[in-house]
This record gives sequence, structure tokens and C-alpha cells, in this order.
Amino acid sequence: MAAVTASKISKTIGTTLVLNGVSLDVRNGEFLTLVGPSGCGKSTLLRIIAGLEPQSGGSIGIAGAVVDRIRPKLRNVAMVFQSYALYPYMTVEQNMALPLIMRKLAWWQRLPFVGRWMPGAAKAKSDIRKEVRDVAATLGLEPFLARKPSQMSGGQRQRVALGRAMVRRPSVFLMDEPLSNLDAKLRVQMREEITGLHRRLGATFIYVTHDQAEAMTMSDRVAVMRNGEILQLATPQEIYTDPDTIEVAKFIGSPQINLLPAIVDDLLDLQVLGTKVSGFSVPQLRCDMKLTIGLRPEAIHFAVDDGTEGLLASVSYIESLGSDSFIHAKLKDQTTQVIVRAIPGAAQQLRPGSQIRLFFSLADVLVFDADGDRLRAAKTLPQMTKAYA
Ligand SMILES: Nc1ncnc2c1ncn2[C@@H]1O[C@H](COP(=O)(O)OP(=O)(O)OP(=O)(O)O)[C@@H](O)[C@H]1O
Ligand SMILES: [Mg+2]
Repeated sequence: MAAVTASKISKTIGTTLVLNGVSLDVRNGEFLTLVGPSGCGKSTLLRIIAGLEPQSGGSIGIAGAVVDRIRPKLRNVAMVFQSYALYPYMTVEQNMALPLIMRKLAWWQRLPFVGRWMPGAAKAKSDIRKEVRDVAATLGLEPFLARKPSQMSGGQRQRVALGRAMVRRPSVFLMDEPLSNLDAKLRVQMREEITGLHRRLGATFIYVTHDQAEAMTMSDRVAVMRNGEILQLATPQEIYTDPDTIEVAKFIGSPQINLLPAIVDDLLDLQVLGTKVSGFSVPQLRCDMKLTIGLRPEAIHFAVDDGTEGLLASVSYIESLGSDSFIHAKLKDQTTQVIVRAIPGAAQQLRPGSQIRLFFSLADVLVFDADGDRLRAAKTLPQMTKAYA
């Protein structure tokens, strides 16, 4: 087991700044996920930690030692790729044994035909076979040891790739989108397998994905990246309920967070499309300030319009998923769309065109300034049950 630190890592490729001073502390035995849109630098950071690519600036530490000048092989990390990277002409057993053969056998012991007669080769090979079989048992791969990768499913191949990483007993696993080649159902199943593996091995896992659901369900902590920077590093729950910026709020959560325009009135109350939301108070508020408020789909409640209070909206369509329904509605400015999560029965009486009123609790409102930075109200504010008086 080992902690991993990245200190002010920067990377320039050609004239492009791919990583812009990224600092990261991954705790010993932690499952940390790097998540972010395509091109934000996730794989580059992982490859730098593995030593497969040099950084332009900054330093990597593993288990308390600076490893910048240490070759990938000696960093005691194993990397698992999206593409499995298995050798097609080798069996599963040979693929899994390869890292051990490269490490434990000298070149003359690896020679074809004569290698087996070299001193120590037989013992080393039998140790390797045992190790491979142990790992194969852990991953349920024993029945497949004699097969070639082409005779296996995607999930099984990915398990072989995991097995090949495990045989070396590394203290850090680096995984770059290992599940993205699998279909949706298998992906969910493999998520559980990988988190189970993490628990059993107790090793440090750094996992890259652009799938926010994977990040949320698997990780101890999540680092949300964008444009070569880490925007926020926190537990999945914190990232979801307490994002620092609008970018983070938008990236995490499905359906996406609802964003509504707001303006500060002369009494320093928020006005959302002409409806007052009182009770939100931070020192930064100024009259006429333009803000955005964020509300998760489950934070909004609705009632059929009775002409009294709440934000007026018109239903555009209802997405029924069995366990949940998502009501898509347009607010009265005709441009702001919101998605409201409802239990299926509750949405039954609604049709496209139905007029509804939306309610929410001030405690669930996330307020962002014009730069997209979060404005946080002091925690001591009384929590209101409804934002509308
Ligand atoms: N060899 C290269 N030459 C030029 N630019 C590169 C090179 N390798 C990576 N980049 C650029 O660096 C940026 C980060 O790439 P990286 O592969 O780390 O992104 P990523 O977050 O892993 O994306 P994805 O989710 O698509 O895998 C991208 O904008 C990419 O175009
Ligand atoms: Mg990548």
C-alpha cells in the first residue's frame, strides 16, 4: 500500500498546456477517481504518475519517496487500460504471467527451448504458475486460463487485464477507463467487481473515467478535472450536494442540475423570473447582481397550478423510467427548461401543456455568481421549508 502525491504537475505538449499545476494527495488505500470531460488531461496525469510520460514541471511521490527519476517498472504501480492491451497470440495464463516472467526470469532463462534448463528457471516458473493461478482464482478466471483473448467476452478480457496488473502485487493500481469498452449492464457489474477487489487488496486505486455515475458509485473521493486543472476534490456526496463551481455542479448528476437565472433586487432578495426567493444572504450580494441558481431534479416539488404561489411552468413532456418519472417543463420566460424528478404516480395527471407550480426549499438552492463560483450562505441561517413567502 502506498500514498501517491502529485505536486504542481504541469505538462506541455507542443504549444498546448495539457496539465496546469495539478496537485493531488491520494491516501494510502484510497479509491480516488479522476473524472472530467474528454481532453481534460486525465490520462496524461495517470501516465505521468505511472512514469510512462515525463512531466514538464512538478513532482510525483509514491509511498513517501520522490519517483520522478524512477523508471515505471520500479515504481510498484500497475496500469490497466481501456483497450485491455492483451497479446492475442498468448493464452490467458501466458498473458497474466508475462509481467512476472519479465521481472523474475533473467533473459537467458527466458530463451525458448534451452531456457528451461538454466539454473533456477524451473523453480521460478513454478512460482509464477502458482501466483497466476491464485490471481485467476480471485477473479474467477480459472476456467479460461488456456483460452486466447479472442475466445473471451469483453468483460472477461478486462478481468484478464486486471489479473495481469494484480500478479505483480503492486501497491498502486492506475486504471484508465477500464470499463468503457463494455456494454451498460456489464459495466455496472464490473464496477462492483473492481470496488470489491479494491476492498480485498487494500491497495491504492487511481481510476480514470468520464462517466460520472462510475465516479459517484465507486470512489472514496472524486477529483473533477477540466482544462488541465482539478476543479474540486471531495467525496462523491460533497461533490453532488456542495459543488464549488457551476462546472462541477453541471458535470456531476444525471439528469443535469437545473440552472435558473436570478437577479438581486433592491432589498437584496433573489428574484427568479420575477418570483422572490427570500432568505439567501451573503455579504457579496449587490443590487442588480446577476446570479444563477442551481437545483437538482429531486430538489424541486410541483403542484398543479392553482394560481397562487411558486414558479409557473408548462410541462413539455414526461419521461417515465419505471421507478422514476422526469417531468420536463419550461418556465414562463419560455427559454429556461427544468427537469423535476417525481415518483411515477405523482406525474400521472400531467400531460404536455399542463400548467404546474414549482417549489423548492432554500436549503437545496445552490447559488453561483456570474463567474460560476459558488456563493455559500453561512450555515447558521435558519432553514426554510419553502422558498416562497
Ligand atoms: N501527443 C500529443 N500531442 C498533442 N496533444 C496531445 C497529445 N497527447 C494528448 N494531447 C492533448 O492533451 C489533452 C489531454 O489529453 P488526455 O488524453 O490526457 O485527455 P483525457 O482527459 O484522458 O481525455 P479522454 O477522456 O478523451 O481520454 C488533450 O487536449 C489532447 O488533445
Ligand atoms: Mg483518456
